[in-house]
Amino acid sequence: MARHDEPDPATWWERYGHRLHGEPTGSGEGETTVAEHEGREPRAAYPQRQGGEAGAWFTDPSGPPAAERAEPGRRPSGPAHLRAFDPDSLVRARGPVPDRGWRRILHTATLGRIDPGPSAAQLAAQDRLARVRSHLAGTHRVAVTSLKGGVGKTTVTACLGLALAEHRGDRILALDANPDAGTLADRLTGQSDRTVRDLLDDLDAIDSWTAVSRYTSLAGRLQVLASEQDPAAGEAFTRDEYLRADEVLARFFSVMITDSGTGMVHSAMAGTLDVADSLVVVGAPTVDGAGRASKTLDWLVAHGRERLVSDAVVVLVGRAGREIDAPALREHFGGRCRAVVEVPHDPHLATGGRIDPGRLRPATRDAFLELAAAVAEAFPARVGR
Ligand SMILES: Nc1ncnc2c1ncn2[C@@H]1O[C@H](COP(=O)(O)OP(=O)(O)O)[C@@H](O)[C@H]1O
Ligand SMILES: [Mg+2]
Repeated sequence: MARHDEPDPATWWERYGHRLHGEPTGSGEGETTVAEHEGREPRAAYPQRQGGEAGAWFTDPSGPPAAERAEPGRRPSGPAHLRAFDPDSLVRARGPVPDRGWRRILHTATLGRIDPGPSAAQLAAQDRLARVRSHLAGTHRVAVTSLKGGVGKTTVTACLGLALAEHRGDRILALDANPDAGTLADRLTGQSDRTVRDLLDDLDAIDSWTAVSRYTSLAGRLQVLASEQDPAAGEAFTRDEYLRADEVLARFFSVMITDSGTGMVHSAMAGTLDVADSLVVVGAPTVDGAGRASKTLDWLVAHGRERLVSDAVVVLVGRAGREIDAPALREHFGGRCRAVVEVPHDPHLATGGRIDPGRLRPATRDAFLELAAAVAEAFPARVGR
């Protein structure tokens, strides 16, 4: 039904239509127009000009039609509203644009006039990034552990750190607490001339960011602190020393990820577990790999760390053979812990050399982003949660 007292749609809709529903007046799927909200045919509320002057609502002292004034929840559109300066209303809001595939091609080819909207995968990736970027108050310590060596603990520490550092604005540290010449710095930066031992020797002098960054090296935006490289000296990395180093480092870093070394009973491990806010347990999707991860959880429960266990993220590294019942494995760890993340076998990681995130397969990158999201979504948004 045409209404004669409405403004010229070409003028009104172009200028102000977006204010009413926060979206541009395109033809994208999922967009709702005012008319749809009101249960009318889209655009039917703004028919071809039937008479009256363009913008008559705004110049007519009697204001908008009574029907429009009476509608609850509708934003005021009279002169008073126009006078109020609202910066947000001056910028047309846009929904997410398709980032790849046929959706992107169609959107680009039609200059956005046909917008199929983002795919489910794009929305899932956006959601994952939002979780990686979860707000964090204070410092959060993540301990990466396993009962068995060679299962992928150092690799998981490195890639988790890289993923968090790439997508978060705060300072992230990957710390090697292996008592036996750990390889974390080799995998990330190749610089291990300054180690946690040097940091401990100079602890009292570390009173600024400049001072602490003398002991770390940088992989992308991730700070890396190497472990003592002399295995004989490693045993001297005691629980007390770990705690002293931790206390100083926590003044400078938001997230501290510790590659804890093999086994659960070495002395630095006790310090790591004392202060850990969350735990990543690394295992493999094999009978023995999963068995050891499960035993790690049993050991932690037996030593009073139930909270860490129920909040832990289990990472299963490598491909599950055909004979392995992968869903049962996921169910087992999913029942005991907060999340299970499967990291596929990756030829670049299998070299055991320096990790270049750009050379990881997309599925591997996604898996580490998922791990980063699973870890970050447990970050406390307030101190003292
Ligand atoms: N997802 C993966 N795909 C292929 N190889 C991997 C993967 N994760 C780890 N590796 C390789 O397995 C070996 C042991 O990994 P590492 O992280 O050093 O284990 P840990 O620290 O538990 O001893 C290394 O050569 C490493 O590069
Ligand atoms: Mg290691």
